[in-house]
Amino acid sequence: MEDRIQQSVSYIRSRANIKQELGIVLGTGLNSLAERVKETVEIPYGEIPGFKVSTAPSHKGRLVIGRVGNKRVVMMQGRLHYYEGYSLPEITYPIRVLTALGINTLILTNAAGSLNPYLLPGDLVAINDHINFMGNNPLIGANEEQFGERFPSLHDTYDAELRGQLRQIADRNNFKLREGVYIAVTGPSFETRAECLMMRNWGADLVGMSTVPEVIAAIHGGLRVIGLSAVTNFTNIFHGAAHTQAEIQEQAAGNTAKLEAIIKEIELNS
Ligand code: HPA
Repeated sequence: MEDRIQQSVSYIRSRANIKQELGIVLGTGLNSLAERVKETVEIPYGEIPGFKVSTAPSHKGRLVIGRVGNKRVVMMQGRLHYYEGYSLPEITYPIRVLTALGINTLILTNAAGSLNPYLLPGDLVAINDHINFMGNNPLIGANEEQFGERFPSLHDTYDAELRGQLRQIADRNNFKLREGVYIAVTGPSFETRAECLMMRNWGADLVGMSTVPEVIAAIHGGLRVIGLSAVTNFTNIFHGAAHTQAEIQEQAAGNTAKLEAIIKEIELNS
């Protein structure tokens, strides 16, 4: 694994002079944020030794390296999912590479279904905790000592200080930003009404098919983490009809400006 990571890192460094401090993973519907990056170097995943290519709808599959405001960012435009058939170590491999490139903070975004009547399609929600219901963990196997310890603590997973900053940024920019607990499922089928009621009773507000494995790898590697869910739909507790892919793409797209404000205004060395 170590050699493979070094190969990916060397290749990326040969294409871009990386001094990036902030990593960003763009989820479903949030891809257009990559168009707001200035002074970009774009590298399709297929060109990076060691990288796998995403097959999910609307996931472009490239690294976009550059600036948003005065922040130096390395953005993953597209991610891998468990439902595509990749193992969790494969899904989290790019997070390992970003960590080895020297970022200190990672913003993970996703599209999620709402289990909470107060979190509406179109809302952006800061994740304040998670439930790993994927039945698997990316750290299973030999511990990657160069990143972190065998039993990492998930005590302050979604950094409380950074979440405080997010609330202030939302106030300054006049958008609503609530917080909620995200539960990760494998997908690709959506949840039944009975499953949604169970998850709601467990304390989850949002459900989705990504993010948690990447968060675990990021925390293991010592990064500070922000998780943001774009609510794209109500789940079957409240949803009267079958879900469509179009509905999900459309609702996530409205959040690009909010995410741009967050990236520009977040203070990383606080
Ligand atoms: N369930 C799981 N994943 C999702 C959903 C959902 O309702 N919406 C967007 N991603």
